[in-house]
Amino acid sequence: MPKSKSHPQQKSEPTGPRYLCEAEVVTGLKDYAAAELRARFGDRLTLLDKARDEEIPFQFDGSLPDLSALTKTAAVYLVQHYAVPRPQALLGHQHFTQLLKMISTVRSMHPAGTFRTFRIAAAGSHSSVFQRIKEEIAKATGMTPNDEEGDLMLRVRKADIHRDGWEVLVRLTPRPLAARAWRMCNMEGALNATIASAMIEMSDPRPDDRVFNLLCGSGTLLIERLLRAPAAVIGGCDHDPIALRCATDNLMAAGFVKEVDLFEMDVADLPLPDACIDVVCGDLPWGQLVGSHEANARLYPLVLREAARITVPGGRAVLITHEIRLMEQVLRDCAEVWSLRQEVKVFQGGLHPRIYLLDRR
Ligand SMILES: C[S@@+](CC[C@H](N)C(=O)[O-])C[C@H]1O[C@@H](n2cnc3c(N)ncnc32)[C@H](O)[C@@H]1O
Repeated sequence: MPKSKSHPQQKSEPTGPRYLCEAEVVTGLKDYAAAELRARFGDRLTLLDKARDEEIPFQFDGSLPDLSALTKTAAVYLVQHYAVPRPQALLGHQHFTQLLKMISTVRSMHPAGTFRTFRIAAAGSHSSVFQRIKEEIAKATGMTPNDEEGDLMLRVRKADIHRDGWEVLVRLTPRPLAARAWRMCNMEGALNATIASAMIEMSDPRPDDRVFNLLCGSGTLLIERLLRAPAAVIGGCDHDPIALRCATDNLMAAGFVKEVDLFEMDVADLPLPDACIDVVCGDLPWGQLVGSHEANARLYPLVLREAARITVPGGRAVLITHEIRLMEQVLRDCAEVWSLRQEVKVFQGGLHPRIYLLDRR
């Protein structure tokens, strides 16, 4: 039995099986991921308590493929508990049949041929026991083990949701959910779409917003904004024509190309009148893949000043960067135009960028 439950709700009659699932979330964004799960699935889902920042286990009565549409979750796994003392016992007939059933449930959600390879993430995954488990899975499913890039991702861990035994998790999708179907053009330094989606949520999107994305790159924030809510007017700028072509390809794939005005412009010189925008968003160069620390020291004050010029009093800005010290300095220097409402530290790919939600004074 799961260890504990939080706030069980009155349930409507379930129409199918009840699954135990776990959402893997970007560190720092758990509240946004949990809010989306509740908003989308209501009483089809019961969130379970878990202290760890990156995981939200839940019981689910709905249709598993619907979980692939989550925008603020990094990945969703189907979880199965095995009352066994060690992973070797997963090879026993009853447990192995259960394991194959889990794999087949996930494979049946996708067109044939989606999962040709698989990988297992576990402590000791290169041991002889896991070697045997991989061989048996390969024999039974026809999939080839590939430890680096396997399509089907399994995790085996000591029970975490349950009191004892082991848990096997099978990821519902061949790729993480941040790998959006609209991403035709994958620009180096593009923002993780899951983080972009949470940023958009923080900006409290409304259909009458006039939105501008400074430094739009390949268009991640623009697309995630329009996927979340329509906007009265929406545009973006970047000084790099290649980035703008990339944004156009992605906007086209997402079905939004006609809605967005893109400008090939330096951010310091926008062709926009004063106070014409309600929400500014931007992913500033982090000085690693994109930009340099020296260039950023010149760029950031310009971005914050220009954002203040085009934003109406009472408007919002949501920005992300990894240049924490520089951003803090620039926000102090801009204190008469921007006030910091919220700062969220996220963890992504070994980096700790921060999201800043600002109010235009
Ligand atoms: C971190 S990237 C944005 C990536 C974007 N969020 C995405 O998902 O593709 C920063 C962008 O700022 C642009 N940029 C840098 N300096 C600029 C400037 N002075 N004016 C306009 N754009 C600039 C770069 O060309 C780059 O595309």
